Amino acid sequence: MRLAVWDVDEPFRRWRDALIQHAGELRLAVQVIDACADPDAQADFALVWHPPAQWLAGQQQLRAVFNLGAGVDALLPLMRAHLPEVPLIRLQDAGMGRQMADYVAEAVLRAYRRMDDYAALQAHATWEPLVLPARGGFRVGLLGLGQMGLAVARRLQALEFALLGCSRSGRQPDGFDFPVYAADGLQEFLAACRVLVVLLPLTQSTRGLLDYASLSRLPRGAYVVSAGRGAVLCAEDLLDLLDQGHVAGATLDVFDTEPLPADDPLWRHPRVRITPHVAAQTLVGPAAAQVMRKIAALERGESPGGVVDPDLGY
Ligand code: GLV
Repeated sequence: MRLAVWDVDEPFRRWRDALIQHAGELRLAVQVIDACADPDAQADFALVWHPPAQWLAGQQQLRAVFNLGAGVDALLPLMRAHLPEVPLIRLQDAGMGRQMADYVAEAVLRAYRRMDDYAALQAHATWEPLVLPARGGFRVGLLGLGQMGLAVARRLQALEFALLGCSRSGRQPDGFDFPVYAADGLQEFLAACRVLVVLLPLTQSTRGLLDYASLSRLPRGAYVVSAGRGAVLCAEDLLDLLDQGHVAGATLDVFDTEPLPADDPLWRHPRVRITPHVAAQTLVGPAAAQVMRKIAALERGESPGGVVDPDLGY
């Protein structure tokens, strides 16, 4: 069984070693190919992160393509164009949930404890205790309740923040009892968020969803954390609302254009904190273990989790 890896961000041998290590009973049958070095080799399974369309188009015998990340927005159009019959499978958590929970918890605590205000006071050597927001009214809204959203929900619940959620279906996630709004309740949901955490996948229905009109529904002084996909949120509209003081601050990990261009005003906005798409990074060990488990399931004729629904886009 031939596994081709296309990932220019990670040394190939790390993937090869981890895949062999987690191959279990398939170990002797598995051959791992560096697709970047040998683009003509044909494989049964592909493990990819931002592969070129031309390479995908040249693959004739693939049984499945694994996206080496959670979001498939970049890969799905290529699959539709070149391999419409081949299932696309995404990573499910694989160590990313904990990272995302860390990232969002830091931002929420920072907003709640008014750390940006204290940083501004420190810049002027000003000793001034500030009023803490009432905990009960400091409601954190999770927009997107997939693997990442629920990992964040677990952490914020452990930190005793009041939560609310919004997802396409509005389905109540197992084990949680916070209020959940469906997509048609977005405006009502936004009006109730003191902090908005955006963890939606990028699809036709979510692109540009958070525009001026939607973001204006947030209560004055709300804080925004965006760590799913940049194009869900209109950055210019967010900047306008930050400048008006309607939005108090933002922690942004994802952007419509990445890397964020050096002249983008977001970089220099005093109420914006920027990280370079690092909130939840693919971990080679857990990702390889998960891919090998999914391949073993396919070999047994079972359906592995994480198969992307092309119509939904995730
Ligand atoms: C990262 O953004 C991912 O989709 O895994």
